[in-house]
Amino acid sequence: MTGWVDVAPLAEFGAGARAIVDVDGAEVAVFNIEGAIHAIEDVCSHDAECLLCEGAEGEVDGFEIVCPRHGARFDIRTGKALTAPAYEDIASLPTRVHGGMVQVRDDRWD
Ligand code: FES
Repeated sequence: MTGWVDVAPLAEFGAGARAIVDVDGAEVAVFNIEGAIHAIEDVCSHDAECLLCEGAEGEVDGFEIVCPRHGARFDIRTGKALTAPAYEDIASLPTRVHGGMVQVRDDRWD
């Protein structure tokens, strides 16, 4: 079981904010979209491009992120692959606000 990892104070992570954090060796993209916090693994399921990493920042369109490499779209809330050329979903990770801090954890190996 892995622990919760701090992302940022909620006061500094308002609507529209996004961040990349390392969660036990996995790059995770965290978003505040319309006041709700969501986290997905930052790896496109098509050809392993990072979606939000520096220098390759994917466009966010509502609840969707567009892979900067070939344009696949994913639902940020669920990790679901929405358009080709990606057909496999990416991991969606649990988030919480604890003591005013936005946190994320990777529960895939629990
Ligand atoms: S690497 Fe993301 S769509 Fe190809």
